[in-house]
Amino acid sequence: PVTRYYHLTLKKVQMSPDGFERTVWSVNGQHPGPLIQANKGDRLVINVTNNFDDPASVHWHGMFQHGTNWYDGVPGQTQCPIPNDISLVYNFSTTDQYGTYWYHSHFFAQYVDGLRGGLIVYDQDDPYLKQYDYEYVVVLSDWHHNTTGVLLPLSNVPGYAGFRPIPDSPLISGVGRYNCTAAPPGSKCNSNQPLPVYKVEKNKKYRFRIINSAADGAFVFSIDQHKLKVIELEGIYVKPTIIKKLPINVGQRYSVIVDANQPIGNYFIRGTLDKRCTPNNNATTNFNSAIDWNGLGILRYEGAENTKPNSKEFNDDFKPCRDLNKKHSLPLKPITKYDGHVSDFVNITIAFGRDSNQRLEALVNNVSFVPQMNDATVNKITRDFAPKDLPKEENSVIFNHNGGIAELYVWNNNTADHPFHMHGHSFAIMFVGEKGQLPNESKYDKRNPIVRDTVTIPGNGFLVIRFITDNPGIWAFHCHIEWHVELGMVMQLIELPNILKNETVPDDVISLCLENEFQKRKTL
Ligand code: C2O
Ligand code: CU
Repeated sequence: PVTRYYHLTLKKVQMSPDGFERTVWSVNGQHPGPLIQANKGDRLVINVTNNFDDPASVHWHGMFQHGTNWYDGVPGQTQCPIPNDISLVYNFSTTDQYGTYWYHSHFFAQYVDGLRGGLIVYDQDDPYLKQYDYEYVVVLSDWHHNTTGVLLPLSNVPGYAGFRPIPDSPLISGVGRYNCTAAPPGSKCNSNQPLPVYKVEKNKKYRFRIINSAADGAFVFSIDQHKLKVIELEGIYVKPTIIKKLPINVGQRYSVIVDANQPIGNYFIRGTLDKRCTPNNNATTNFNSAIDWNGLGILRYEGAENTKPNSKEFNDDFKPCRDLNKKHSLPLKPITKYDGHVSDFVNITIAFGRDSNQRLEALVNNVSFVPQMNDATVNKITRDFAPKDLPKEENSVIFNHNGGIAELYVWNNNTADHPFHMHGHSFAIMFVGEKGQLPNESKYDKRNPIVRDTVTIPGNGFLVIRFITDNPGIWAFHCHIEWHVELGMVMQLIELPNILKNETVPDDVISLCLENEFQKRKTL
C-alpha cells in the first residue's frame, strides 16, 4: 500500500454541460471532478482548496473513515465547512475497502451545482479481474439550469405540497443535450452538444462502473444490443448475473461487464431518468417541461463510422423504481456476520409535516434535522465531545455496544420512495416491504443478505437493516434525494461515543471552525 496525493481546487467556472451555459461549482475546472483512484489498502491524502467564494466540504460517499470520523466531510456533524480561500487536507486509509464510490459536497445542495466525481478503489484480489480488458466510469446526474441558490428558497413557500424541482437534462459523465428552443431568451445555448462516446474494440470486454450522482433522479442505464453482467454492488462482489437494464437510484453504484461481441457499429448508451419514480404531484417548481428524460451516449466500435447509432432499446426487464432485485444482488460469498444477537434496536419513522409557518419539512422521528454549522456545536462534536452533551433530539441515536449488531426498523409514512444512505458503514438488508407488507422477523434475510450502503425505501413501505457498531463516529443516515436532505430528512448515528471522545481531532479540522469565526468577524 502507498499514499496517493490529490489536489482538488473548488472553483466556479462557466460551463455548458448540456449546451446551456451556466456557472458550475467545478473541481479543478471539471464537472464531474477528476476521478480519484487508489488500490485497496492505500491511503488517500486529498488537499481540497476552496475557491468557491462560499463555504464547502467534500464527503467520500461509501468510504468508512474508520478512525477518521472527522474526515467524513459533513458540515454540522463532523467538521465546520471549509471557508473560502482555505484548504483542508482529507487524509484517510481505504483500509480493506474496494469497489466503486464517489465524492461530493455535503454543504447544502452544493453537489447539485457540480461538486461531485468518482472514487475507485481497485482490488488486486478482484475475482473478476481476468474477465474484462478495460474499464470505464460512468457518472450519471440530473442537471438544472438554475443554481441551487435559486432553487432552494422555493421550498420555503408556504403551502407547497412538495419540493422536487424538475431537472432540465440528464447527464452522462457530465454531458447532455438540451433543446435550446426552450431556453430563456438571451441565454447562451447550443442544441448540438456532441454525445459522449465510449470506444470499444470488438471482442474485448469492458467493465462499466456506474455511479448515480443525481440530486433526485432514479436512472435506468442500458446499452442497446449489449447485455450487462452485474459483478459489483457498492464495494461488494456479487454473483454474476445477466440483465438488460440497470435501475440505479440516487447514491447507488454498480459494476457491470459488457462484452463487445456485436457487429462493428454504433450503439446507444442510455442513461434515462425514470419519470415513473418522480410523481408529478410532487413537482411544484416546474420551470420547464421541455426536458428530454433520455440521456444518450454512444458505444462506438473501432472501425465503425463516425455516425449516430440507429440501434433499438431493450424492453424493461426490471421492476420500475425499485432496487435491482435480490437475484442480481447476492454477494459472491454469503455474508453471515449480520446473523446474530441484536444489541440495539431503533425504530424510525420518516414523514413530511409543516412547520409553524405552514412550510413543508421532512421529519425523521418527528424531528426535522437542521445541521448546526456554528462553531460551538462542531467543537462539541469534534473536540469536547462527551456523551452527556449529546443532542437529545429523537433523530440522534447513540450506540454503545462495541462490535454489536444494530437493527434499524424504518417505516416510510409517505407516498414517495426514499433512497437512504448510511455514512461510515455498509448494512445488510433484512427486509424491504411495499405498502401493507409488514416486516416479520421470520422473513428476515439473515443468512445471505444483500449488503450495500444506499437502499430504496418504497413509498409507504418498510425497511429493516442491520449494521455492526464498530466504527466510532457521528454518522449521517439520510435520504439521498438532496431536496429531502434540505427539508431535514436526516438522522445521526452516534456510535461508540466513549471511544470517540478519547480520539484526537486533528488541529486543521478544529481550526476550520476558528477560521469561520474569523471570517465572520472580518465581515462585521
Ligand atoms: Cu452521498 Cu451523506 O451522502
Ligand atoms: Cu427522500
